[in-house]
Amino acid sequence: MLVLGIESSCDETAAAVVADGESIRSSVVASQVLTHEKYGGVVPELASREHLRAIAPVVEEACRRAGVTLPQVDAIAVTEGPGLVGSLLVGLVYGKALALSLNKPLVGVNHLEGHIHAVLLENKMERASGKAVAEARLPAVTLVVSGGHTSLFQVTADGESGQSSPRFQYRPLGRTRDDAAGEAFDKVAKLLALGYPGGPVIDKLARLGNPHAVDFGRIKMRGNPLDFSFSGLKTAVLYRVRGSDLGREAEERRAWRKTVGRPSLDDLRAHCSQETVDLIASFQHAAVQDLVERTLAAADGLGVDTIFVSGGVACNSLLRRRFAEASHGFQVFFPSPALSTDNAAMIAAAGYYKLRAGERAGITLTAHASFPLGVAEQA
Ligand code: KG4
Ligand code: ZN
Repeated sequence: MLVLGIESSCDETAAAVVADGESIRSSVVASQVLTHEKYGGVVPELASREHLRAIAPVVEEACRRAGVTLPQVDAIAVTEGPGLVGSLLVGLVYGKALALSLNKPLVGVNHLEGHIHAVLLENKMERASGKAVAEARLPAVTLVVSGGHTSLFQVTADGESGQSSPRFQYRPLGRTRDDAAGEAFDKVAKLLALGYPGGPVIDKLARLGNPHAVDFGRIKMRGNPLDFSFSGLKTAVLYRVRGSDLGREAEERRAWRKTVGRPSLDDLRAHCSQETVDLIASFQHAAVQDLVERTLAAADGLGVDTIFVSGGVACNSLLRRRFAEASHGFQVFFPSPALSTDNAAMIAAAGYYKLRAGERAGITLTAHASFPLGVAEQA
């Protein structure tokens, strides 16, 4: 079954063709980074406009690269939420119109479910290509960590493992109560005039700093210990910067950046004091430590030995290293960076299993800014 996936929940317009939920025939992502970078964050109105511009060429390109025409696609899967409604609607309406005009089945996919399926999809592809990697088996505890989300789920599948059309169940275990982890990276980068998106640049600069220079302490949570909170950490960085030499340095950097456009990492480093680089490293260390500890605690508490990590922040090199070091007794799976960030292959893969299970969306399918995945167990 060839599924055309369409994703437009935030600032990436993406389309992909995936065969049988396990083989990517094409995956095209049109990034809007250049549009949003001067604002230091995604501007929803601009995002919708860019999606409108990109959606048709991106879908066309996905079909071209897959060597198929639209009528040869068997079904269409679109992201229905959560995300920016104006952005979601572009991909959703486009997918709906294609499904109607081509008379193909349509299914709506939760964006977070897509991120979870990115792990399974990549694992299947790696194993099929003969790579000696372990099988990503369920049940698993999944950390979805990106610019919009920081959530933990228990993921199970009914039926035999390896069965071609299992039904997946998602049980929410915890989520951020304020900022998402990626949002905190982006806001700290904006505060320090490091550029947008913040995650990749902080990741690289942090390697040059001392992660123990500033002790931000552990992030404390009342109530559910598997919830997250990153706004306090972000504010702690803000208090160290505002009105200090670090703040003046950041303003100088901001003025300098306006004259150079996109500086190289070396140039940016040359415009950062060691104190700034140490602050960046310490912030990243605190955020990563919190993500790793809560995820391991969730897996430990449930007696689950498989962990999936997905979403844009899953690209973070320290996060990958810390999971590798700290996760004795657990098997941790990350998608490659291209499948960690937003893409439509993960939407097509998740949609495939829904279609196999007989799910179909009707003409009333619509976008949801907030769209919880799974049902929490009653306390
Ligand atoms: O999954 P994604 O593409 O979009 C959302 O659904 O949000 O994730 C984008 C987020 C941004 O906040 C970006 O700063 C963060 O992922 N990110 C990283 C890294 N690469 C991307 N954060 C930390 N370290 C990275 N290497
Ligand atoms: Zn995402």
